[in-house]
Amino acid sequence: MDGHQVIRVLRGKHILLGVTGGIAAYKAVTVASRLTQSGAVVDVLMTEAAQRFVAPLTFSALTGRTVRSDLWSLGNGQIMHVTMAHEADLFVVAPATANTIAKLALGLADDPISATALASKAPLLLAPAMETGMWESPATQGHVQTLADRGAFVVGPMAGRLASGAVGLGRMAEPPQIIEMARKVLGRNGSLAGVHVAITAGGTQEPLDPVRFLTNRSSGKMGMALAASARDFGARVTVIHSPLQVPVPFGVESIPVRTAVEMRDAAFDILPEVDVLIGAAAVADYQPAEVAPQKIKKKHGSLPIELVRNPDILGEIGAQRKASGYPKVMVGFAAETEDLLANAKAKLESKKLDLILVNDVSAPHSGFGVDTNQVTLLDRWGDVRPWPLLTKDEVADRLMVWVARKVHGKGLADLGD
Ligand code: C5P
Repeated sequence: MDGHQVIRVLRGKHILLGVTGGIAAYKAVTVASRLTQSGAVVDVLMTEAAQRFVAPLTFSALTGRTVRSDLWSLGNGQIMHVTMAHEADLFVVAPATANTIAKLALGLADDPISATALASKAPLLLAPAMETGMWESPATQGHVQTLADRGAFVVGPMAGRLASGAVGLGRMAEPPQIIEMARKVLGRNGSLAGVHVAITAGGTQEPLDPVRFLTNRSSGKMGMALAASARDFGARVTVIHSPLQVPVPFGVESIPVRTAVEMRDAAFDILPEVDVLIGAAAVADYQPAEVAPQKIKKKHGSLPIELVRNPDILGEIGAQRKASGYPKVMVGFAAETEDLLANAKAKLESKKLDLILVNDVSAPHSGFGVDTNQVTLLDRWGDVRPWPLLTKDEVADRLMVWVARKVHGKGLADLGD
């Protein structure tokens, strides 16, 4: 996939992106571009200083929208900033200089960003970027605190190399972090707000000796897409995961494990506070009967390895569901190569799941390692829905619509998919 994929929480959202005059302004170009590609309508506002670093034309070419770079541009007979302020779902200021942060805290309104922010009720997300001394000054810290007390969200700044060449705190957060934070802020009151979603993810590692283990081809991509999506719907999200090929998304709690037994134990530890459990991990069915304390040496002839069964995590959790009452909703995946529906239905029943998503892992664009997945949804009430080939992010977003309906005790009729 080429990265042009719509993220549900961003789709059609009107985002104001204020760009102020710091060297990190060039990174705001990536923020504007990615938000637009993900389905948001992005209006860029620039201070005069910002235009010394990046041309307004760069932003207008990427967003397809006019850039507001002076306070006096008119639209619909109104001062433009007022119209924009009222329409916005989110106001991101990236980079946010010390000067602009001070203006926002004081309510000054003498440039397009501060004037629009003052008129707007949209949530404010700041990505500060400045020299360490400016960031640490009591003035800036006081202003950031004032804005945070009024409900503003702040991402960064990070430690690292600064424009001056010095190393310290003050670098702007990277564009992916700013976008993830924007998704979290936009989704904070979503249909899974107040719901705790736990997700198992990755392929477990079963050790043979101190340096070797048995594992599988799971990358953890589906699990991390589910985690980001659940967060975007407003959920508190915990992922219990073996080593992954992709990062744990921003704003998601992480419990790292290696083996199936560790994953099972970690899942049971948090279970009493989990509302929704999604089993996306590729759990090894077997583990070596013994773990050699020292590295196994090569010898003549073959090396037999005895394997014993691992716990079935969802199976064990499913078995205690009726008695304990949790988790309220349980979803599993079935990676199959033949008899997809029959195998999935059997797993749905034996693990006492509400829903199972089955995919044909022998198909070229489905399953392990790739960014896309073609799944069929089977639920406990007999509904069967094949979904088209989608990105893993889209599969995750569609699944969360189902999860939210289930959490709120609604049926599937108007799922819209
Ligand atoms: O039985 P099977 O491995 O095909 O079932 C797949 C589903 O069960 C997935 O959701 C997987 O995460 C979960 N599972 C598990 N513990 C196992 C094996 C699978 O939780 N030992």
